[in-house]
Amino acid sequence: MTSSPEHNAPCHVAIIMDGNGRWAQQKGRPRLIGHHAGAKRVQEIVEACPDLGVKYLTIFAFSTENWKRTQSEVGGLMRLFKRFISAKTQELHQKNVRVRFIGDRVRLDDRLTDLMDTLELLTADNTGTHLTIALNYGGRDEVARATKRLAYDVAAGKLDPKSIDDETLPKYLDTIYLPDPDLVIRTSGEARISNFLLWQSAYAEYEFIDTLWPDFTRAEFEKVLSRFGRRDRRFGAVKA
Ligand code: FPP
Repeated sequence: MTSSPEHNAPCHVAIIMDGNGRWAQQKGRPRLIGHHAGAKRVQEIVEACPDLGVKYLTIFAFSTENWKRTQSEVGGLMRLFKRFISAKTQELHQKNVRVRFIGDRVRLDDRLTDLMDTLELLTADNTGTHLTIALNYGGRDEVARATKRLAYDVAAGKLDPKSIDDETLPKYLDTIYLPDPDLVIRTSGEARISNFLLWQSAYAEYEFIDTLWPDFTRAEFEKVLSRFGRRDRRFGAVKA
C-alpha cells in the first residue's frame, strides 16, 4: 500500500467520475456499458476508503446538466442508479457505510427517491465511511436553493440579515453535515470542475487524472492519496 492513514490522508475526497462514455466507445460498445463498468469502480473505491484513512467520500453520479443527454442514456442511468441502490443497500449497511444523497430530488422519480430514502434511513447510524452520492446535483443549483431557504428565513424573521456571514450559507447547503472536501479528483483528462461542490471546494486540492473512470483502480486511488499527503496546504496563510 502506498498510502495509509499515517500518510496524512485526506479526510474528505470528492470524485468527478468522468470518462464512462469514452471508455465504452473505445471498445465499440454502447455508452451505458461504460456507466455499468463505472458502477463497479464505485464499489471498489468505497471499499478501499476505511483502509486508506478516507472518512468521507462524495461522488458525482448525475449533474443538473446531465438531463441534456439523450433520453435513452438518461433513462439507462436512472435504471442503473435504482439497480445499484437496491442491489447494494444491504451490503453497504453490513460494511458500516453511511450513505446520503445531495442534489435536488424534485425531478427524480418516486421509485428512485424511495430507494434513496430507504438507504439513507437504514444506514443513518453507521459509523464507517460516509458516502455521499450527488444525484441531480449542481453547485449553482444548490447555492440557489440554499439562498431561497435563507431568504424565507429572513422573511419569516428567523434570520437577521445583519448576522449573515460566510458561515451562514453553508448551513443551508445540501452538504450541511459534511466537512469541506480536502481533495477533488477528476478522471478522464478533463481539467474542469463542472459545477461540482463550488462553495465547498474553496480550499480543496485538485487532481486531474488521465485515466477513464472505469479504469480507475484502488491502486491508482492509493497513488493519488499518496501525492496528496506530500502537498503543502496553507489555506491562504504563510507557512510558519
Ligand atoms: C461521466 O462520464 C459519468 C456520468 C455522467 C455518470 C456517472 C455514473 C456512474 C459512474 C455510474 C454509477 C454510479 C453510481 C452511484 C451507481 P461520461 O459519460 O460523461 O463520459 P464521457 O465524458 O467519456 O462521455
